[in-house]
Amino acid sequence: MIESLLNNNMAWASARVRADSQFFRRLSEQQSPEYLWIGCSDSRVPANEIVGLDPGELFVHRNIANLAPPRDINFLSVLQYSVEVLKVRHIIVCGHYGCGGVRAALDTERRGLIDHWLQPVTELARAHADHLDTITDFEGRVNLTCELNVRAQVEYVGRNPFVADAWRRGQKLAVHGWIYSIRDGLLHDLELTIENARDVDALVRRRWSSNA
Ligand code: CO
Repeated sequence: MIESLLNNNMAWASARVRADSQFFRRLSEQQSPEYLWIGCSDSRVPANEIVGLDPGELFVHRNIANLAPPRDINFLSVLQYSVEVLKVRHIIVCGHYGCGGVRAALDTERRGLIDHWLQPVTELARAHADHLDTITDFEGRVNLTCELNVRAQVEYVGRNPFVADAWRRGQKLAVHGWIYSIRDGLLHDLELTIENARDVDALVRRRWSSNA
C-alpha cells in the first residue's frame, strides 16, 4: 500500500532524530558529500545503502546502465555541480552484474526509447565482439559487457572537460570503477582508478594492449 511509504518515512525520521537530535538541522544547512556516485537505476542497487553512507554523504546520479554520456545534459549538470561546487574527492562509476540495460543492449529485441539510450553499450559490445564471441553463454557475455561498460564510463568521466579542468587546477579528484554483485551484495573494485590526465591515457593504452 502506498500509505505505508509515508508511515515508513515518519518512523525513519523520528528514529534519526532519536539517534541524533541535530541530524536534520545540520543537513538542512548544507551538504558536503565527498563522493559522486554514478550508478544504475536498478532497484536492487541502492547507492547509499550498499556503501553504508548517510544522507548528505553521497551525491547520486543514476540512470539505466550507469552511463556517463558526454552529451547528456542531466549527467553533465550533475558532474559539473559535484566537481566545481561540491568539490567531491571521488567519483565512483558503479555497474552491476546481470544489468538489464546491458542485457537489452546485447539482443535485437525492440523496446523503444531505451534502445536509443543503450546505443553506446551496443556499440561497445560491437567493438569488443572478438572477445565477447569467445564466451558461449549469454549471461557470461552480459557480465563481461557490464565490466567493459564501467571501464568505458570511467574513461568518459576522465576525458570530460569538467574533470580535466579540475585536474589542471590541481583539484584532488579520483575516478573509480566498481561493480556490484546482486547475488552476494558485494562490491568489486575493477582497479581502473584514475587521478590525473596521465592515468586516463595509461588506462586507455592498457585497454588496447590487453584488447579487453
Ligand atoms: Co542495471
